[in-house]
Amino acid sequence: MFITFEGPDGSGKSTQAQRLVAYLRQQGYPVLLTREPGGTPIGEQVRLILNNLENTAMHPRTEILLFQSARAQHVEELIKPHLDQGALVVCDRYADSTLAYQGYGHQLDLIRLRQVVEYATGGLKPDLTLLLDVDAEVGLKRRAGGGDWNRLDAYELAFHKRVREGYSHLVKEDPQRWVVFDGNQPPDVVQAQVRQVVMARIIKMHVK
Ligand code: TYD
Repeated sequence: MFITFEGPDGSGKSTQAQRLVAYLRQQGYPVLLTREPGGTPIGEQVRLILNNLENTAMHPRTEILLFQSARAQHVEELIKPHLDQGALVVCDRYADSTLAYQGYGHQLDLIRLRQVVEYATGGLKPDLTLLLDVDAEVGLKRRAGGGDWNRLDAYELAFHKRVREGYSHLVKEDPQRWVVFDGNQPPDVVQAQVRQVVMARIIKMHVK
């Protein structure tokens, strides 16, 4: 089973993913926790280029292709082999981030974006996607306070608002795959809800 976390910057999804994985391992499941952009040695090198605050000249098409190059490596080197071995894979961001950030955020052609994403992933889609929804302002404030500021965080507030809207469109298109959580709640409350949803889905998949 392939589970992804999505959400605006500062939504708390990385912490939620880590806590979920610790819980699943405690329950005896083999789990891979990974993230995008990155996950593999090659992908982590691409991540440094993407996050570098000095790369202000980066064209949106360059940005798109760098994300996809990291993703292609990630799918082939890490995600697929683990899924084939029967592990659960939990990924902090995946293809939906491209649609939300580059598609809705940068307002680039969604049809073409879906084509490059399909090419990069070889068609691999998550079974379940957990969206942590927070206001763009709240997310950015959390990020600025945390000192983990990167090149993409530095886009203007309107960009981050479009990203949030974009996620809500993606949820409407495929409501079976997505579950939305209110990321303004205390982290423990969110985590309890996340565990409940994931365990219910795991049990349902076993029964099938
Ligand atoms: P990261 O430090 O991982 O941020 P976060 O903790 O919010 O996940 O940086 C990843 C940034 O890259 C984040 O701003 C979202 C963005 N991104 C895209 O724009 N497109 C993509 O396809 C992916 C995977 C991430």
